Amino acid sequence: MTQIIQPATISASKMESKDFLWGAATAAHQIEGGDIDSNWMRLEKEGKVKNGDTTLAAVDGYNRSIDDIKLLKELGLNAYRFSIEWARVEPKKGVFDEAAINHYSDLVKELKRNNIEPIVTLHHFTDPGWITDQGGWINKKTIDDFNNYVNKIAEYMGKDVKYWITINEPNVIINSSYLIGIVPPYRKNPIAFYRAFNNVLTAHRRAYKTIHSQNAMAKVGIAYNFTDFVPKKENWFDKNITKLLNYIFSFNRLDKIKNELDFIGLNQYKRYNIGWGWPIGDQFYVKDDRTDMGWNIQPEGLGHAALLLSERYQKPIMVTENGLADRTDKKRAKFIRDNIKSLKDAELKGVDIIGYLHWSLMDNFEWLEGYDMKFGLYSVNPKTFERIARPSAIYYRDLIKEYRK
Ligand code: BGC
Repeated sequence: MTQIIQPATISASKMESKDFLWGAATAAHQIEGGDIDSNWMRLEKEGKVKNGDTTLAAVDGYNRSIDDIKLLKELGLNAYRFSIEWARVEPKKGVFDEAAINHYSDLVKELKRNNIEPIVTLHHFTDPGWITDQGGWINKKTIDDFNNYVNKIAEYMGKDVKYWITINEPNVIINSSYLIGIVPPYRKNPIAFYRAFNNVLTAHRRAYKTIHSQNAMAKVGIAYNFTDFVPKKENWFDKNITKLLNYIFSFNRLDKIKNELDFIGLNQYKRYNIGWGWPIGDQFYVKDDRTDMGWNIQPEGLGHAALLLSERYQKPIMVTENGLADRTDKKRAKFIRDNIKSLKDAELKGVDIIGYLHWSLMDNFEWLEGYDMKFGLYSVNPKTFERIARPSAIYYRDLIKEYRK
């Protein structure tokens, strides 16, 4: 492992300070509900989600957004990451729904009144239907359209919001819509993939400038899904194949926006040990400790990913997502404990960590898996939408208290 460059600059532990952002995250489409014309709503209406699930009701998050603040307060959280649904605030190109924009700015104000830092995501997987109709992210017009939308939102709440995430997991979106083609506009074309990727990164760079033009103090980042590839053995082959994969899957993309990132949002779920021999990656055979999604539980991945990103970019790291599907809640408390410990180890190595946002505040629509996967600190009753804290949520609350002491 390479040496971190500037350990001396972190004098006191941020994780143990009052300012550290302890929070939880959600995304509009996964919780809100409502018949909003987006690429995902179209996919759902085509019956492509497990069990035929749709987000027409989701977990009634739009109607309950202000009420749900009490869920954050109950756990003593001081940060909430949520997203704005572009298709809702701009249902037709250039036509903005002011009531919808006010809904989100009221949420921001109410969070702040409760001393909870809003962390606003502008794009979390869903495109308005009219964007899909024009080809989605392979069309350069989408960059201008996204910028108009960002500009509008920044006009309304630019001054109130400090932390912004322009785009959630550009790597995942572009992969699923333009390379493997399972999400509208269903393209399966490496050239489309390449063009769409560049356009999304350009859109991020523009949004970065647009937000800063409304609020010079804003901190703007993206949330990047970083798979942590590590060598199986410390030999030449294993080390270099790992480096190559980290480069292909993450660094070559992040390098292109490194001057437009005030912090790096890290979404961390997976770590693969890679090296000589079959299978080349251990995700295919490690069976002992897995989430309900089938993903290996390897908490060291979180701290290690933070360390790699910090070494390369010298920027603060905010964990914008980390969590697991665990229907019985038997694994979540330990997962939280071990992941936060791994993050603390990274901080001790000199990484500037500014926040940890657990995914997710409550059970929600897990994309193609529908409602089967339970990622929530709170369970949600599918009929009444009542939210109930799982034991692991209480564990998280108490762990935060330990850190804040
Ligand atoms: C996404 C979330 C999703 C989570 C769990 C992340 O890739 O940003 O929307 O629910 O992973 O799969």
